[in-house]
Amino acid sequence: MEDVLNELFRYGHHECLVTTLGKDGTVNVAPMGVDYTGGYLIIKPYINTKTYENLLLNNEAVINLTNDSVLYYDSLLNREGLKFIRSLKVKVPRIDGAVDYYIECILDRYEHLGKDRAMMFLRPIHIEAGRGSKLAYSRANTFLLEMLIYYTKLKAFIEYGDVNEALRAFTKVNYYFNELVRLKPTEPLVTRAKSLFNETLNMVYKAILSKT
Ligand SMILES: Cc1cc2nc3c(=O)[nH]c(=O)nc-3n(C[C@H](O)[C@H](O)[C@H](O)COP(=O)(O)O)c2cc1C
Repeated sequence: MEDVLNELFRYGHHECLVTTLGKDGTVNVAPMGVDYTGGYLIIKPYINTKTYENLLLNNEAVINLTNDSVLYYDSLLNREGLKFIRSLKVKVPRIDGAVDYYIECILDRYEHLGKDRAMMFLRPIHIEAGRGSKLAYSRANTFLLEMLIYYTKLKAFIEYGDVNEALRAFTKVNYYFNELVRLKPTEPLVTRAKSLFNETLNMVYKAILSKT
């Protein structure tokens, strides 16, 4: 297992979709950065996330690895579009779809990083190949992922009332949206990118209005 993990995480910092289970058995899925160091998968969730709350509750997570930005989009903005399947060694299910690898994990320990973030050490107990994202390198796919990252940052800045930082994040969303559109990608990407752009624009517009 260690050799496979070393290869999968060979570029240091990576992205994944973390599935966890809530108190009432609801499956939660969230995009998170992930590193593999010293035998642990390390994620750094903000303490106001469901992922953090659920991991403290029942100690289990599945790291779903995929290169398909559509799954990242659906995790944040189209959760009803996702399906789940049983895992082998943990109660938390996996995402059913274009996933390259499933890594079933147990929370070993965690530390606080400042007052609003945590560093959680997940011990991998089982790894299995999924059906795969089977995707040739696509810049449009990368641009949608970047849009999603700045969308989540923008959302947080608006929640904290920092309109200037929110505007800065919006310039990034706008940049990646224009780059994506220039490449004329096919339907699954272009529809999501347009709706994400409109949603972001709307949020910024409302935030500016509330300050004037
Ligand atoms: C690619 C990507 C990586 C992200 N990485 C993190 C992260 O490392 N930590 C974090 O707290 N949020 C991260 N986010 C934002 C969370 O996914 C977002 O806040 C989400 O709504 C949290 O969901 P939850 O409350 O259901 O756990 C990331 C978002 C994207 C698109």
